[in-house]
Amino acid sequence: MSRIVYVNGKWVAEEEATLSIFDRSALFADSVYEVTTFINGELLDFDAHMERLQSSLVKLDMRYHVDKQALQTIHHDIITKNKLVTGSVYLQISRGAVDRDFHYDNSVKPTLFLFTQTGVQKNLEQMKLFRVITMPEQRWARRDIKTTQLLASSLAKTKARDSGVHDAVYVENGMVTEATSANFHIVDKSGALITRPLDGTLLPGITRARMLLLASGNGVAVEERPFTPQEVYGAAEACISSATNFIAPVVEVDGRMIGDGKMGPVVEKLRALYLEQVPRS
Ligand code: PDD
Repeated sequence: MSRIVYVNGKWVAEEEATLSIFDRSALFADSVYEVTTFINGELLDFDAHMERLQSSLVKLDMRYHVDKQALQTIHHDIITKNKLVTGSVYLQISRGAVDRDFHYDNSVKPTLFLFTQTGVQKNLEQMKLFRVITMPEQRWARRDIKTTQLLASSLAKTKARDSGVHDAVYVENGMVTEATSANFHIVDKSGALITRPLDGTLLPGITRARMLLLASGNGVAVEERPFTPQEVYGAAEACISSATNFIAPVVEVDGRMIGDGKMGPVVEKLRALYLEQVPRS
């Protein structure tokens, strides 16, 4: 079924939506994005997503003013126009369309578009037990910014799928960074949640931040430090976090079973807390 999408202030059928071949998102991946999930029409952690969007824009010196209120209205309108209940909204802002030039020009009007996706419903109903493989980190150095420079992760995720697993987890200098489109965490034998700090090597996930707050507020010890693949193999539990998968168990890494191969108690608790308590608007 054709979706109604939003492009530069206009609502159009997806078949009618167009971008210039000179859009800097196409030529230079000069664009940032957010994916915000909604459940029963309510956006999860919307303010935090808009704050990260603003931060991505600032880090790239992109002049787009994030009007949280106006963007929230557009998010709710796109959900309503597409008659959706649960799903996600993809929002992208690029530095606009202008003849190809490595130098950018901030007097060009940015491009804004949004569309919806519905995969989240399935992630809610049939939670995946993730099986992953590790791969060398191949992305650019600014993984702290949510840009559309996603080719390395597209290649890695497809390679993982072709190897019969769900996803890949990157390793750099002997330490885990994150998964291709989610943050990655482990739980040690004492029940502590171990997660890599925001040291510039990974995306500051909105779900990760919420999970850490919920963990500390509910008796789960949190250790923010880098960890090795060997620690992952010996972990009691492992999980990923992302807007579209929430907090989901990882039960196999590089063919080795994690814990007893099922969702463990800490991940189960954090997932339940997240789904109960994540701010909705
Ligand atoms: N991905 N790390 C990477 C590299 C990501 O692409 C994502 C999100 C995350 C988790 O961030 P958050 O909790 O804010 O969703 C971590 C989105 C969902 C995507 O690209 O579809």
